[in-house]
Amino acid sequence: MSFQELYSFSPATRAFWAKTNQAVLTLMILFSQLFAIFAFATCGGYSGQLRVSVDCVNKTDSNLSIGIDFAYPFRLHQVSFYAPLCEGKRQERLFLTGDYSSSAEFFVTIAVFAFLYSLLATVVYIFFQNKYRENNRGPLIDFIVTVVFSFMWLVSSSAWAKGLSDVKVATDPDEVLLLMSACKLQANKCGSVHGPMWSGLNTSVVFGFLNFVLWAGNIWFVFKETGWHKSAQRYPAGSSDKQTSALNQKPYNRGSFEQSGGFGAQGDLGQQSSYGQADGYAAGGPTSFANQM
Ligand SMILES: *[C@@H]1O[C@H](CO)[C@@H](O)[C@H](O)[C@H]1NC(C)=O
Ligand SMILES: *[C@@H]1O[C@H](CO)[C@@H](O)[C@H](O)[C@H]1NC(C)=O
Repeated sequence: MSFQELYSFSPATRAFWAKTNQAVLTLMILFSQLFAIFAFATCGGYSGQLRVSVDCVNKTDSNLSIGIDFAYPFRLHQVSFYAPLCEGKRQERLFLTGDYSSSAEFFVTIAVFAFLYSLLATVVYIFFQNKYRENNRGPLIDFIVTVVFSFMWLVSSSAWAKGLSDVKVATDPDEVLLLMSACKLQANKCGSVHGPMWSGLNTSVVFGFLNFVLWAGNIWFVFKETGWHKSAQRYPAGSSDKQTSALNQKPYNRGSFEQSGGFGAQGDLGQQSSYGQADGYAAGGPTSFANQM
């Protein structure tokens, strides 16, 4: 007797897996909130500083500690600072280069909206479970929104990862020194004191991609809440005996084990939909093995 035969026929077990799916979905949406907060807090709350020194031939003109502060949203072309010209007390006003606000703001916006949506979803999952199921409208909207958000997380995290690498170049002390006229003269000695700390922003990119993975995972659990899960199983029809047995189980199917078992039994990866595969990874791995043995 296989794993799936053991577990799939009892309505009580079916209800158990349906409940498990809800519980997993609620848990994942709670994690989505937390991860979204990490993403927008680390990016939106960032401020950094670099420090350079200009050591003039005439030491009295030197400034050995020029601090340059910048912060979210990284409109670096608006960040100005004064550098000595090494000609008496005269100074020049300089600006950093580049404007990376679009990718940074896009990332933070997606994170904030993802947070708000998952907050709403948590309330609905916990307090309005029946309304959510009514006419299947809740799961359907939830499914579409989840797909859109996971796509947006991927796009905004990639854009922000690119933006961050550009910000790192533009605020590299060695790059900043190239802007100063005094440093173009060999006689004056220019150097970096310290560069900005990047750990916060690196974390924001990591959390961006973690959010993508989390939301992409959510797609599967929300998908199971829609009715499509059951009807979708009719289509990958083969002709083996095991196939038939998998189809016979269909009316009972609610959770994931039955379906993945059916697919696993076919032993045909080509026939699996991407959802079927996701299911296989999520829960069906051991089942497939059981069937093959
Ligand atoms: C050096 O530059 C900083 C600005 O970064 C300024 O506050 C400070 O007064 C300057 N020091 C001298 C000696 O000019
Ligand atoms: C250095 O600067 C001081 C005052 O700014 C000036 O009096 C002096 O002549 C300068 N020395 C040289 C070698 O330029």
